[in-house]
Amino acid sequence: MPKKVRLGLVGSGGMAKAHLPYLTKMEGVEITAFCDPMRYKADKLAAEHHAKAFDTPAEMLDSVEMDALYLLLPPFAHGEPEREAIERKIPFFIEKPIGLDLALTREIAQEVERQKIISCAGYMNRYRKSLHRGRELLQNDPAALVFGGWIGGSPSPQPGDDSIKSWWVQKSKSGGQIVEQCTHTFDVLRYLCGEAVEVFAHGAHGFNKNVYMYDIDDASTVNILLKSGGVANLMSTCAANGGGGGVSLNLYSHDTTLQYTGWEHSVVIRRKGVEGVEEIKGEPDIFGVEDEVFISAVRTGDASAIQSPYPDAARTLELTLAANKSLETGKPVSISAS
Ligand SMILES: NC(=O)c1ccc[n+]([C@@H]2O[C@H](COP(=O)([O-])OP(=O)(O)OC[C@H]3O[C@@H](n4cnc5c(N)ncnc54)[C@H](O)[C@@H]3O)[C@@H](O)[C@H]2O)c1
Repeated sequence: MPKKVRLGLVGSGGMAKAHLPYLTKMEGVEITAFCDPMRYKADKLAAEHHAKAFDTPAEMLDSVEMDALYLLLPPFAHGEPEREAIERKIPFFIEKPIGLDLALTREIAQEVERQKIISCAGYMNRYRKSLHRGRELLQNDPAALVFGGWIGGSPSPQPGDDSIKSWWVQKSKSGGQIVEQCTHTFDVLRYLCGEAVEVFAHGAHGFNKNVYMYDIDDASTVNILLKSGGVANLMSTCAANGGGGGVSLNLYSHDTTLQYTGWEHSVVIRRKGVEGVEEIKGEPDIFGVEDEVFISAVRTGDASAIQSPYPDAARTLELTLAANKSLETGKPVSISAS
């Protein structure tokens, strides 16, 4: 019987419901408590999982003993829950993006490192076989050119929505599509190609009309200069309703072409001098894969399999916020940490 891991979930919305089916199937994992300022959401999940419900992370942590936390919060709601976890030296899983305030994120990253707290950000693509293969191939043959992004339809939040739909369309709450959604692709770029040196972005506005509370960019294109010397362009839109969009990333190195498609990041690989193509299908249950890695790290104290600890995820946030800054200023923005 594996060592018991008691979990508390902060945030009882969509991603709580996405992780719970995997967590509840894991041997030795006990869901002890939920908290959410929309208390009825925590109450509902607590009733379903024979757990306790609270309004705030502090109340939850003061009342129930636990071994790890899941922070499943909207981007604007970060800070206090992380501080509560750090104060009590409790390992935490945190959904991406890990915040909107870079200074706060750096402060938390420093504490996480100083106190050696196990952390794992929800950049789940880093656990895909297709990405491991890509990283291996690009190690000694880096990509000269990369392009891709996240192309989707118009959001349609309604008054009274209490889910991601309500905050996603507000830049002060979500950070916009680059920071909230295409962040996965920016993170995959970092994972496969290394750090960026500079970004330069352009945005499009006025295509999505009369969307409730909407003030994010309709589309953006971000040019990225990589430390390796390669160049990338990552595009996002939430104003493409004719179909044919989706998630993609194409990487061209001297001898290898990698074409990732779909949320599952299936890849087709072509190599100079190698006949035929290599195909790797993406895993549909990747949330379960990352949950297994995090829970195992908590259980054993060995965090070496975690691919996206909090301090690393802070660098993906820095890159996407730099793209936002370039959108605002119309100027190239350097990445300070590179
Ligand atoms: N990894 C992925 O593929 C993926 C997919 C979708 C969403 N996400 C990310 O997951 C995060 C959560 O998204 P969601 O869809 O669950 O949003 P959601 O709005 O459905 O749920 C978030 C919940 O957090 C609650 N909350 C807000 N402040 C809180 C606080 N201080 N303490 C406790 N609870 C608080 C809200 O009331 C809400 O119920 C977001 O950062 C989002 O970007 C990741």
